[in-house]
Amino acid sequence: MTVEVIAPGRVNIIGEHTDYNDGFVLPFAINKYVHVRISKSSKNWEIYSEKFRDTITLEKPGKTYTWADYVVGVVKILNEKFEIPPLRIEVRSDVPVGAGFSSSAALELAVAWGMRELLNLPVTKKEMVHLCHRAENEFVGTRCGVMDQFSVAFSRKGFALFLDTATLEYEYVPLNLNGARFYVIDTGVRRSLRSSEYNRRREECEEILRILSKGSFREVFMSELEQLPDALRKRARHVLEENERVLQTVEALREGNVEKLGELLYASHRSLRDLYEVSCREADYIVGWLERRSTVLGARIFGGGFGGGILVLSSTPLEELFTDLMKDYLARFKVAPQLLQVDSADGVKRI
Ligand code: GLA
Repeated sequence: MTVEVIAPGRVNIIGEHTDYNDGFVLPFAINKYVHVRISKSSKNWEIYSEKFRDTITLEKPGKTYTWADYVVGVVKILNEKFEIPPLRIEVRSDVPVGAGFSSSAALELAVAWGMRELLNLPVTKKEMVHLCHRAENEFVGTRCGVMDQFSVAFSRKGFALFLDTATLEYEYVPLNLNGARFYVIDTGVRRSLRSSEYNRRREECEEILRILSKGSFREVFMSELEQLPDALRKRARHVLEENERVLQTVEALREGNVEKLGELLYASHRSLRDLYEVSCREADYIVGWLERRSTVLGARIFGGGFGGGILVLSSTPLEELFTDLMKDYLARFKVAPQLLQVDSADGVKRI
């Protein structure tokens, strides 16, 4: 028997660097997928990538120090609870890598869900989210929050997923955009400092809680930030204000108020640039350029930061403006940006 599963990438409308701080996020899955075919294998583990046209063969699941570690990580974590026989896992994907679309979470969920379906594992979707999140943190070693795995699993076409990462309660908010559309501009910038700086921000947030003697960012109030050293005060302010912006964005979506939604995106970008300091000059250039065009309602860097993608909300098709932007950007940075129109999609499922 062969099982086939697709798992989507995701974007995040707003709520950046809040998911490891017990905060709010508002992602939606996009119509770009990791596609996995899983069947039992007679002897060894076989992990095939269509992109690399390469099969990694393993007698036992263990570190490969390649992309396949996302697959092996899931297997290892599931193996703690279940007997898993050797499998053949074929992967193909049209989720761009490194642009902030969570291609790794999509791969993890696709593999985990495929194994569940093939082997009839008694695991709920929420449990799978935790297992995949653990695989990435403990096996691959990226200390990410839970937003990516959660949105890849639970998203629903036509809706944004309003998630409280402190309680994992969630609500579907209709993507009521009044004719406006979301796009992503991939800056083409891939910075290796992304994961080290990401982990540093996490440590800074832990330090903030230690200084303020709090167990969670949910117990931190703006009036208490004065006690913090400058840099930490800026980080904390971002987290508190970004949470507030998520709540306002949910309200704006419910009212179909796309102008307000756009302003909140720009405000989030400024905060990520000036307070949380996870933007980069290429991203700032694109957002600044778009901000001067009246048909663009809002834009911001999204995901971990330091390059990757810009989420744009535009009231008219962006292709025309993009041609001009591309010329300016290419001349300045010698890298070609890419434009993608993104539509919402359902979370992981068997096909
Ligand atoms: C990365 C992580 C997410 C989240 C974002 C920032 O994408 O994987 O968990 O922390 O950065 O919001």
